[in-house]
Amino acid sequence: MRVLVTGGAGFIGSEYVRELLRGSLPVAAPAAVTVLDKLTYSGNLANLDPVRDDPRLTFVQGDICDAAVVDQAVAGHDVIVHFAAESHVDRSIEGAAPFVTTNVLGTQTLLDAALRHGTGRFVHVSTDEVYGSIENGSWTEDWPLAPNSPYSASKAGSDLLALAYFRTHGMDVVVTRCSNNYGHYQFPEKVIPLFVTNLLDGGTVPLYGDGGNIRDWLHVHDHCRGIALVQDKGRPGEVYHIGGGTELTNKELTARLLAACGAGWDRVTPVTDRKGHDRRYSLDISKISQELGYSPSVDLETGLAQTVQWYRDNRAWWEPLKR
Ligand SMILES: NC(=O)c1ccc[n+]([C@@H]2O[C@H](COP(=O)([O-])OP(=O)(O)OC[C@H]3O[C@@H](n4cnc5c(N)ncnc54)[C@H](O)[C@@H]3O)[C@@H](O)[C@H]2O)c1
Repeated sequence: MRVLVTGGAGFIGSEYVRELLRGSLPVAAPAAVTVLDKLTYSGNLANLDPVRDDPRLTFVQGDICDAAVVDQAVAGHDVIVHFAAESHVDRSIEGAAPFVTTNVLGTQTLLDAALRHGTGRFVHVSTDEVYGSIENGSWTEDWPLAPNSPYSASKAGSDLLALAYFRTHGMDVVVTRCSNNYGHYQFPEKVIPLFVTNLLDGGTVPLYGDGGNIRDWLHVHDHCRGIALVQDKGRPGEVYHIGGGTELTNKELTARLLAACGAGWDRVTPVTDRKGHDRRYSLDISKISQELGYSPSVDLETGLAQTVQWYRDNRAWWEPLKR
């Protein structure tokens, strides 16, 4: 099996590549893995250092919006796992254009190439944010999409396009929608690495609004395990939720990070709430649990402790990124 991973130098994509090559995911060992990544600000070749010498790995620097590059990269692969995206909500509020370009047009460019080349399977990595916000209960996969930020709207566009290629062209497409990830190698603009690195540097952390927004936190390893199960055994044209971590308010998360870094509430600066801030996300994961035997394996306490320790031990990775 030859696998093309887009965005494989980013946070989640690189975990997928490292684990795929190490053989720690519930899917057959690949004969070859090609990473196609533009290396935007959040892409980092150092994320692939642990597997750099694996002869099965090829890195191609390129833009998923560039049809010629994509056509060449897609040729000869059996599976595409599509992570590449502009991924930060706050940046999408500052400027939506790169989000629409990469997330929508880039995905369409990839889908067209996969269709032309008859690629066996297209795994589209989407997000729970496409549903908007839910006060009580949890979303099932057939819930209507109602995204609120330019990021989530562009992800909803790409998610629906992927499903349209299944319905229209009969392409073997599967879509995963996951909750908030955390873990090592996450770019220090996202809340957990931002807070941890600020605290380790003796600084303060910005807490949005009343701190009452709720997110389900899942370790990146569990996200990758879920994607591998869907890649291997998911039914064509289906959407699968990946989640089942721990739901916390941002205030509760902050308390845990302060404790892990030995800091107090005097290090927290309240800031004006994010525009259009979704209040709560919550995924029903019965489908992937029952059909594919998925359940999360890393509990939040252990995962957060390991993550904080990783940022303590790897200043050389994150200090240049914060500058
Ligand atoms: N982080 C989360 O909590 C989370 C949760 C659910 C789903 N997702 C989805 O998972 C995927 C990966 O997210 P992440 O957190 O690893 O993001 P990330 O920002 O860390 O990585 C994105 C990667 O895509 C690359 N990229 C961006 N634009 C590109 C382009 N035009 N062409 C080629 N490569 C490009 C970047 O260089 C980077 O390596 C995204 O599709 C995101 O929507 C993320």
